[in-house]
Amino acid sequence: MKGVILAGGNGTRLQPLTFVGSKQLVPVYDKPMIYYPLSVLMLAGVDEILIVCRPSELSLFRELFGDGKKLGLRIDYAAQQEPRGIADALNVGADHIRGEECALILGDNLFHGANLPSTLRRSARKLRGCVLFGHQVADPEHFGVAEVDKRGGLVSIEEKPRHPRSNLAIPGLYFFDGGVADIAKELRPSARGELEITDVLRAYLEEDRADLVWLGRGVTWLDTGTHETLLDAGRFVRDVQHRQGTRLGCVEEIAMYMGFIGTDDCYALGAEMGNSPYGHYVMERARSFDVGMPPTDFLESM
Ligand code: TTP
Repeated sequence: MKGVILAGGNGTRLQPLTFVGSKQLVPVYDKPMIYYPLSVLMLAGVDEILIVCRPSELSLFRELFGDGKKLGLRIDYAAQQEPRGIADALNVGADHIRGEECALILGDNLFHGANLPSTLRRSARKLRGCVLFGHQVADPEHFGVAEVDKRGGLVSIEEKPRHPRSNLAIPGLYFFDGGVADIAKELRPSARGELEITDVLRAYLEEDRADLVWLGRGVTWLDTGTHETLLDAGRFVRDVQHRQGTRLGCVEEIAMYMGFIGTDDCYALGAEMGNSPYGHYVMERARSFDVGMPPTDFLESM
């Protein structure tokens, strides 16, 4: 499965933080925001990833990740000329996807929780059209909302409904089969002038090929698009990390646990950042890879 991270947009709600530079490079506690969605794709087993961003920010992302080899990945980049909507990424990324299955994730979404990796990998294996995820929230009217029947089957998808039919928000992570670029090609802009991802999801729903996977209460989903939610996300990351002595979204550690790189490679990446606590953590994880919990169990907690 290929991966696409949407790291464009204008980030107007985060201004003036986003006047210069990319929203997805703004720190969420101890690392750039994009580390979190990147780590989700890696945990799903995806190692070929396209980062879609504004033309002026291509060089920044390239400088950060290069060709991805250091993390055992292949990372490519594509410019979205205008922020024409989330579904536009499927057009910008059509050459990368090349008719294969793909996972699309928004560059400002953070996921963390028990068994997330196995949930993602199981959903990818069962893909028969598209998979969207459901996450219970207190304020569904601010999100895309999924209506499900008693057996969990998807019935409808509504974008920011005034009277939501459920409290299941649809986070910015979607799995698609190889036909998605053809669907995206046919999209027309909505009233707000964007190519809407809900229109893509509805196209699959109409063919009865859209499945909703409930992420469950053990998973936390945070969107980092406003000053408040950015700070909340930073606090969440800090609190979990301090309490557990672990790091969330630590792409070097995940690359090692996924088998994309070896323990020596991981240690060397940590050593490059040896003056920071993050770098020390990466080195320590590489040193203790073979100690304690089996790697497969450890992965489920990332
Ligand atoms: P949004 O948060 O909906 O939009 P934005 O990032 O432009 O922010 P604001 O509303 O504050 O102006 O976008 C969600 C994610 O998708 C975010 O990571 C940016 C990305 N995105 C693109 O890459 N291209 C686009 O055309 C749009 C609309 C969003």
